Amino acid sequence: MRDLAARQRVRARLVRGNMKDLSVFKDASFDVVWHCHSLVFIDDAVRVLKEVGRVLAPGGTYLLSTMHPTTLRLYGSFKDGGWRPKISYFVDRPVPYLSEWDMTWTLGKKKLVAPTIEFGHRFETIVNGMVAGGMLVDGIWEFSPGPPEPHPEPGSDAHLDTLFPAFIEVRGRKLAAGALPLHTPRAARSAAAAKGTSRPRGR
Ligand SMILES: C[S@@+](CC[C@H](N)C(=O)[O-])C[C@H]1O[C@@H](n2cnc3c(N)ncnc32)[C@H](O)[C@@H]1O
Repeated sequence: MRDLAARQRVRARLVRGNMKDLSVFKDASFDVVWHCHSLVFIDDAVRVLKEVGRVLAPGGTYLLSTMHPTTLRLYGSFKDGGWRPKISYFVDRPVPYLSEWDMTWTLGKKKLVAPTIEFGHRFETIVNGMVAGGMLVDGIWEFSPGPPEPHPEPGSDAHLDTLFPAFIEVRGRKLAAGALPLHTPRAARSAAAAKGTSRPRGR
């Protein structure tokens, strides 16, 4: 970050803190919040997303990348030829580790065993959290690190990344106060369920 700022000849102020509490920053004080690969370590994603919305200026852009909520539940779970989610998609607990291999991070030639607590925040948590922060979501992308290995070992992380996206990226724009009537989609979803909406089968 410092190197990039020096190369671009821009002044950068680095602040160390917990993303759950951005009170050091004033309301509407940023035009862009770029949030790379760290929401996965946070238990309360909505609290962070509301803080992001508070510090973003109207019209400002938020770009979030984090682990794909489905794929994160599958790493290291390959057994007897199939992938078995370690927890249900509907459970918000940290994703458990099954073995030491599962908690080993590769840093170049070094391997580090670190049982980091990770949360696979669901799409509805992220999108509705951004809405709660006064943002309009205007882009979602799903991707794996590339290029893919040509013949990944069955059951490996590289194999899983060819089947499901490793990461998601979500973009939001901070709305001006009163620009759109924001509502939570949860009410609409329960209304549809009450009418007996069912999953299409047998096609
Ligand atoms: C996987 S690294 C990503 C670093 C960098 N954003 C990037 O994309 O290269 C995760 C980072 O999240 C930071 N982190 C974890 N929990 C945090 C928290 N509660 N508040 C702020 N940063 C946190 C860690 O210190 C670490 O630097």
